[in-house]
Amino acid sequence: MKITSFEEYHQIYKHSLDQPEEFWAGVADTFQWRKKWDKVLDWNFTEPKVRWFDGAKLNITENCLDRHLDAIGDKPAIIWEPNDPTEDHRVLTYKQLHVKVCEFANVLKNNGAQKGDRICIYMPMVPELAIALLACARIGAIHSVVFGGFSAQSIADRIQDASCNIVITADGGFRGAKDIPLKNVIDDALVQCPSVKKVIVLTRTHTPVSMIKGRDVWWEDEIKKVETQGNTACEAEEMDAEDMLFILYTSGSTGKPKGVVHTCGGYMVYAGYTFDTTFQYQPEEIFFCTADIGWITGHSYIVYGPLSQGATSLMFEGIPTWPDAGRFWDVVDKHKVNILYTAPTAIRSLMSFGEEPLKGKDLSSLTKLGSVGEPINEEAWHWFDEKIGHGNCPIADTWWQTENGGHMITPIVGVTPLKPGYASFPLPGIQPVLVDEKGEEIHGNGVSGNLCIKYPWPGILRTTYGDHERCRQTYFATYPNMYFTGDGCLRDEDGYYRITGRVDDVLNVSGHRIGTAEVENAINMHATVVESAVVGYPHDIKGQGVYAFVVSPDKHENEDLTRKDIIMTVSRIIGPIAKPDKIQFVSGLPKTRSGKIMRRILRKIAEGDTSNLGDTSTLLDPGVVEEIKGGAL
Ligand code: WTA
Repeated sequence: MKITSFEEYHQIYKHSLDQPEEFWAGVADTFQWRKKWDKVLDWNFTEPKVRWFDGAKLNITENCLDRHLDAIGDKPAIIWEPNDPTEDHRVLTYKQLHVKVCEFANVLKNNGAQKGDRICIYMPMVPELAIALLACARIGAIHSVVFGGFSAQSIADRIQDASCNIVITADGGFRGAKDIPLKNVIDDALVQCPSVKKVIVLTRTHTPVSMIKGRDVWWEDEIKKVETQGNTACEAEEMDAEDMLFILYTSGSTGKPKGVVHTCGGYMVYAGYTFDTTFQYQPEEIFFCTADIGWITGHSYIVYGPLSQGATSLMFEGIPTWPDAGRFWDVVDKHKVNILYTAPTAIRSLMSFGEEPLKGKDLSSLTKLGSVGEPINEEAWHWFDEKIGHGNCPIADTWWQTENGGHMITPIVGVTPLKPGYASFPLPGIQPVLVDEKGEEIHGNGVSGNLCIKYPWPGILRTTYGDHERCRQTYFATYPNMYFTGDGCLRDEDGYYRITGRVDDVLNVSGHRIGTAEVENAINMHATVVESAVVGYPHDIKGQGVYAFVVSPDKHENEDLTRKDIIMTVSRIIGPIAKPDKIQFVSGLPKTRSGKIMRRILRKIAEGDTSNLGDTSTLLDPGVVEEIKGGAL
């Protein structure tokens, strides 16, 4: 949606509150449907039940591919920049991408895939990853992408939870100086996954792999088969608007990660609408989202959002700091990127290298910037603005979550007057509210509270896979008739929203969501550990670091070695992204008489703020606090 002024934004916003169904029907009308809906919206937040565009029929890939072929078939859909700058980049036009998606969709069918099947994707950031997602969507299979930084155990948990029957992977992946042996990790995971009947393996790193007869096939061989069969066209499966499109697992404050479910119609509308609106995309622009497709940002802003709008999406395989800290700027310069969408953690990491890596890099193609994943501190915001945007690129600080499908509160570039550190205003159609501890809505400006949304939007999660009650409990039970985000937020005197961070036990480490309970469970698997408590602490680059207090009665001969063993255990159970940054051995944890760990105290100690620990009189053994304070790292 193109918006030309802040006044117009306010008008459109008001209309979206007064006539939400009319507003969303108007947005949905800009997409291609095989059949239009009978009803725009049917909802209640008590079950919860949310159905958008009921009765409508579509296939999201017709919106991302087919509908563009006549007008912009030769426009680049995906520009892919490899990890290694000496390797050639690749360009896939809309026509070429369409052919590849159809071919691979037929490969999936040849390997037994059917509409409704769950397919796990564990791949490096190569174009075939986007092709795999779209091919699943083409035949109505539900994809569940698992980020390459997760361990075999985490993959197995996710495959089992969704009973996937097919896995798509690669022999390995390149990330900076490392080769990641993806297929080996999958083999370890599959020992526990009898539901998986086929594994399709793309060649990327030429790492030796073991191909199991009858189960494992090479991507390239399978493509050759469909080509020699002449089986390269693939009619898109007709989907109901509310059919599942994908599952994406994310961490919460308790238990194992949950499978957030998004559906075909609503998610498509929301990913496309937010991409177009926030970035005010113009047809010739090159859009570079630096996220990995393993996260929601990559789903919505590398694949579905840009492609549904006929945009050129740049996909980057590597990392910002390899071969050197100028890599992002080389990519921007080489491909004349216009819109750069990245994360505060990447900005902070690159800032720490100073201005040397920027020398000789032409960033003048940039006109718009975006940030996502965690609160952006003012220092990083200004650096991004001045050094990268040269003071004339508006920054969209986009606040949203896996469960939301797309941007919720964000400046609209070129429209919303900016304030550093503020996600600013809700997009048209989004109704945020701040509530107090009792669940009362807090009105007016200059206030803060817990952030909730009181009206559905098309991209809201529909359920958590296989466990609707968990969805209700997590998001809809804290405050009646509202979706609770888990974030704290303030609304300043001018009505600008600023997200202050999670108010639950979820950490945000380098923009990755990590549940403290998950990390504790992993630490507790280590043979010498009795129990543990994990909290976050401020970390210069990662935003938050992982601080673990570990009760381990054995006298360790070599504490450092035990620490490394524990870190190894977490890596094996969850993945390297959840590794503790600090491990403090303690003889006990501060607990209330009812046995509850007082995390508030541990958080303060981890933050290095021990002057005011608050009331410790309810503790079972106030003595442990002194000991923990004394040993803080
Ligand atoms: C945090 C990522 C402040 C927030 C798209 C949220 C942010 C969680 C911002 C969701 C932002 C994301 N400012 N905080 N611009 N964007 N967050 O599901 O705590 O990986 O609840 O989705 O990241 O993380 P998720």
